[in-house]
Amino acid sequence: MLEKAPGFFIEMDPAAQPQPFVEFRDVTFGYGARAILDGVSFAVPRGKVTALMGASGGGKTTVLRLIGGQQRAQRGEVLFDGQDIVRLDAAGLYAARRRMGMLFQFGALFTDMSVFDNVAFPLREHTQLSEALVRDIVLMKLDAVGLRGARDLMPSEVSGGMARRVALARAIALDPDLVMYDEPFAGLDPISLGTAARLIRQLNDTLGLTSIIVSHDLEETFRIADHVIVLANGGIAAQGTPGEVRESADPLVHQFVNALPDGPVRFHYPGVSIEDDFGNLEGGRS
Ligand SMILES: Nc1ncnc2c1ncn2[C@@H]1O[C@H](COP(=O)(O)OP(=O)(O)OP(=O)(O)O)[C@@H](O)[C@H]1O
Ligand SMILES: [Mg+2]
Repeated sequence: MLEKAPGFFIEMDPAAQPQPFVEFRDVTFGYGARAILDGVSFAVPRGKVTALMGASGGGKTTVLRLIGGQQRAQRGEVLFDGQDIVRLDAAGLYAARRRMGMLFQFGALFTDMSVFDNVAFPLREHTQLSEALVRDIVLMKLDAVGLRGARDLMPSEVSGGMARRVALARAIALDPDLVMYDEPFAGLDPISLGTAARLIRQLNDTLGLTSIIVSHDLEETFRIADHVIVLANGGIAAQGTPGEVRESADPLVHQFVNALPDGPVRFHYPGVSIEDDFGNLEGGRS
């Protein structure tokens, strides 16, 4: 089952299996005093599509930010192709980020730029390539998402699903090794959603990427993912193939996979008790 990836070496353990492309080892992170991840460990296999799932507010976007180095873990290691992101200096982090493509959760296109210029943006920003080369690359990426013909449109002239595909073309403009998609399906109709999902799978396989998808769309995500990680209450509730996760006996995972509103996953953002907020309405506010 495990392919041999030629040309890389694991210093610590030469007998080990192919090194995961991203690995969290005992990572703890919080915003200020609020703990979000508490000693989390998981692996994102190289060359595969991994789905990161879990309740809203559970820390999925935070995990992507830790990988991208926009946030730093307070404890543990965040390994990106064997390098610990937590310990990289600014130059090292910049170099690592060049190898990552990111589709942000609420990421929009630059509205004052054409589809073409949106995809060209990272190339112009991060490389010294000639305009002729930029043009070839942009058209190639737009072709990969089926929108070569839409190059001259403005973002206001494309549909939501098309805009998502343009953002996808932009995310892969610099030929990243890892692409992270934060809610790529949000707001798409079932047909566009299916198209976007197949596209993510196809780009992963034809471009030899490693992909991480954060999504609430269980069915579509389980269909295209090789590996699933379920994040809940600061830890990993399950990880494995979609089939394994679906079969999980863990009540947290059961609640999540079956979309049950009540169960061990907390629905409420932690705060004062409801009695404290509403209990003394008659007494008025002090
Ligand atoms: N910059 C920040 N400062 C303080 N708290 C933050 C910050 N970003 C996120 N949080 C908090 O951290 C928790 C996890 O947020 P995160 O965005 O990672 O969740 P998520 O799993 O991506 O949720 P969703 O599915 O709703 O996008 C949330 O409770 C959120 O309020
Ligand atoms: Mg999020």
